[in-house]
Amino acid sequence: MPFDRSIKIAPSILSADFANFGAEIRAIEDQGCDWVHVDVMDGHFVPNITFGPQMCRAIRPHVKTVMDVHLMIAPVDPYIDAFADAGADIISAHLEAGPHIHRTLQAIRGAGCKAGLAINPGTGIEDVEYLLDMIDLICVMTVNPGFGGQKFIHSQIDKVRKLRALIGDRPIHIEIDGGMTPQTAPLMAAAGADVFVAGSAVFSGGSVDKPAVYGANIAAIRAAAQAAAR
Ligand code: DX5
Ligand code: ZN
Repeated sequence: MPFDRSIKIAPSILSADFANFGAEIRAIEDQGCDWVHVDVMDGHFVPNITFGPQMCRAIRPHVKTVMDVHLMIAPVDPYIDAFADAGADIISAHLEAGPHIHRTLQAIRGAGCKAGLAINPGTGIEDVEYLLDMIDLICVMTVNPGFGGQKFIHSQIDKVRKLRALIGDRPIHIEIDGGMTPQTAPLMAAAGADVFVAGSAVFSGGSVDKPAVYGANIAAIRAAAQAAAR
């Protein structure tokens, strides 16, 4: 995975048809997405349950781009190898998920995956500074994790500006996750973000039988973000 800071769109399959993940993934990739964002939820760290390593293993053969696995689980460490073996390219863990995030990130890289640090809307960036050499991506939650279709939290714009300054020219992606639309993505692109997760804004109105709607939704978010990018 060569690093570049060009604008990337990562549809979240949380908003896809759970009975048809393979076809849905092929549809969004055919329609031009850059990554596939896979939201793993355990009903403990977040008030929702989605799926685990077996589902990731099942969908891996359908992912031709990048499988970007967002672990909304606690604890994380006992499951890292299972998600890595299932074929994750990137594994993001929440800073808030346990007391030893440095070790968690070490274990993710040790399992051969790119390491992402996810932070909730209420978490500041002071805890990120000593982790910069351990991460390939920081996932800034712009909704409280657990569900798609929520409203964008505008206070996170300032957080991304500060993160962009902190990161400097390190090869670290800033990924925005939650409430991304053609209206909100430009706000975060202007602040310095480069990867945009979008669930409802990509999947709404389309289907595997109407994939062009996915393509139009992806293109609209990309164009708006590119127009505003620094
Ligand atoms: C929420 C997930 C997000 C969510 C995004 O906990 O981490 O990835 O699926 O969905 P939208 O784009 O609809 O806010
Ligand atoms: Zn997510």
